[in-house]
Amino acid sequence: MSVPQITFHDGKQIPQLGFGVWQVENDQATPAVEKALEVGYRHIDTAAIYGNEEGVGKAIANSGIAREDLFITTKLWNDAHKAADARKAIETSLEKLGLDHVDLYLIHWPATVKYGDAYIEAWNAMQEFQAEGLATSIGVSNFHEQHLSALEGAKPVIDQVELHPTFQQSELRSVLAERGIATEAWSPLGQSKDLQHEVIARIADEHGVSPAQAIIRWHLQLGNVVIPKSVTPERIASNFDVFGFELTGEQMDAINALDEGNRLGGNPDTADF
Ligand SMILES: NC(=O)c1ccc[n+]([C@@H]2O[C@H](COP(=O)([O-])OP(=O)(O)OC[C@H]3O[C@@H](n4cnc5c(N)ncnc54)[C@H](OP(=O)(O)O)[C@@H]3O)[C@@H](O)[C@H]2O)c1
Repeated sequence: MSVPQITFHDGKQIPQLGFGVWQVENDQATPAVEKALEVGYRHIDTAAIYGNEEGVGKAIANSGIAREDLFITTKLWNDAHKAADARKAIETSLEKLGLDHVDLYLIHWPATVKYGDAYIEAWNAMQEFQAEGLATSIGVSNFHEQHLSALEGAKPVIDQVELHPTFQQSELRSVLAERGIATEAWSPLGQSKDLQHEVIARIADEHGVSPAQAIIRWHLQLGNVVIPKSVTPERIASNFDVFGFELTGEQMDAINALDEGNRLGGNPDTADF
């Protein structure tokens, strides 16, 4: 079965299930993304700061898949929010990826502790990049409501935020839904920690699937865009094999009850990087 698409407010679409490559070395990224493309992923999530855009680009080039059939996201790092720096950053990312445009360009963090409101300047630059065709759609990551409210001009199409069963971001998800901004879940498996939860194990057993497949299914049924990462070929494949079963209302409710406010990454309001 094909991957559902989420339609952005700008009319473009994103495959709801993608492949993340944070903490994947540049040379490891090529075989991992090749495997992902081989098993059917068409949406890849990287970032300048991951240091693997070249490795991802190699896999894209090797795949022979038509550009229009791929959805590639990369992100602007925090130290490049000034307009001239942002332009250099997107040009460098495109060169490393070997592409003339990305499908989605994100401001990686608001980074207000270190760089004040420079993210607003970055947002203005991103709108220029979109107008020039360097990025088809533009969005943000790790933005809270106050950061969204401060943006001028175009509205971001998506906010990529930490979101997994033990950290569910219910309030922020409501804010994003009200604003017509898609929600994308990073660390969707809780960096593998949520896989150990007994409720997840029980639900996975009920379907004869892995805990990761059960969690990915929960994200899909919630309406999140979801980008699990793995460098293990069998996991890359099984994490994509999530369209042959559906969680029941009871199972969705049971996972919805697991929120513990268990944040694993930085808090966008206090992060000092
Ligand atoms: N915007 C942001 O600030 C931000 C921050 C963090 C992440 N992200 C994005 O979100 C993506 C996903 O998040 P993440 O990488 O932090 O964590 P994740 O996808 O929640 O978890 C990845 C971990 O789970 C393991 N794993 C994956 N599938 C598994 C399976 N089927 N069974 C058992 N273990 C499994 C992986 O191990 P192996 O790799 O060893 O198989 C890895 O240790 C990133 O790669 C990145 O693209 C964005």
